[in-house]
Amino acid sequence: MSIAYLNGEFLPLDQARISPLDRGFLFGDGIYEVIPSYGGKLVGFGPHIDRMQEGLGLIEIGLNWSHEQWRTLCEQLCEKNGNGNLGVYLHVSRGADTKRFHAYPEGVTPTVFAFTFEIPAAPVADKSKARAYKVSTTEDLRWRRCNIKSTALLGNVMHFQQGHAAGNNETILYNARKEVTEASACNVFIVKGGEVITPPLDNQLLPGITRLILIDVLKKYTKIPVVERTITLDELYNADEVWITSSSKEIAPVTLVDGKTIGTGDIGDTWLAAETAFAEHRYDY
Ligand code: PDD
Repeated sequence: MSIAYLNGEFLPLDQARISPLDRGFLFGDGIYEVIPSYGGKLVGFGPHIDRMQEGLGLIEIGLNWSHEQWRTLCEQLCEKNGNGNLGVYLHVSRGADTKRFHAYPEGVTPTVFAFTFEIPAAPVADKSKARAYKVSTTEDLRWRRCNIKSTALLGNVMHFQQGHAAGNNETILYNARKEVTEASACNVFIVKGGEVITPPLDNQLLPGITRLILIDVLKKYTKIPVVERTITLDELYNADEVWITSSSKEIAPVTLVDGKTIGTGDIGDTWLAAETAFAEHRYDY
């Protein structure tokens, strides 16, 4: 049984207990993060903690842990779980009140929970070893604050399930104007005419840390142009390459969207160049 952390204590995950009045349980009232760690080395730790602190600020949860406190927790947890290929899940909920009442309660101590789960080894820049993803698309029916990494994920879960039930690995989402926003648990990139294109950050999508690292790596270490602009659903279907990114997948190449072949149907050369640069620099972040 893996070792978890709950409110100051390390314990076997199956022994961790919270109150049924915890607002994370009742309302999904909390913020979470997933940080990849390979052999004890965290990827994107600083930006992940910045995003969590921003989210906690936006929903007015007053937990003021420093980066150092979070780093110590993450490193201890990875070590206790064998320092393999791990996703570190961090979760802060508003805590347990004495009643169920929607308004933010005063004087309640936030619940801090963390555990690790196994993830695949750090991806390598090798087309023969990469997994090609197939995805479906659907209109994004979630809320209008998708920039907040809220633990209230039912909208994401239902969209993921739509794709999953149809035999797909992810579901890419578009808005009422048929503009691609993100996927149910990933950000989206396309390659067209040699450019890497991804939707700009706004309230329709999560500011993904893999997205942030990938854009920075491409700009600093390659000559591949990167553009943040609106992508239409038609552009998605007609792209030369499609990628989805997240902390547990890194840059995943997509070769089928709604049953339509993307580009040549094979993993693309721009993916190879991007993954090569990412793999070389992932621990710089
Ligand atoms: N998912 N968009 C959504 C809706 C996400 O849930 C995620 C991450 C991303 C990518 O963000 P990042 O690169 O920071 O992981 C984009 C996480 C991994 C999850 O819920 O498991």
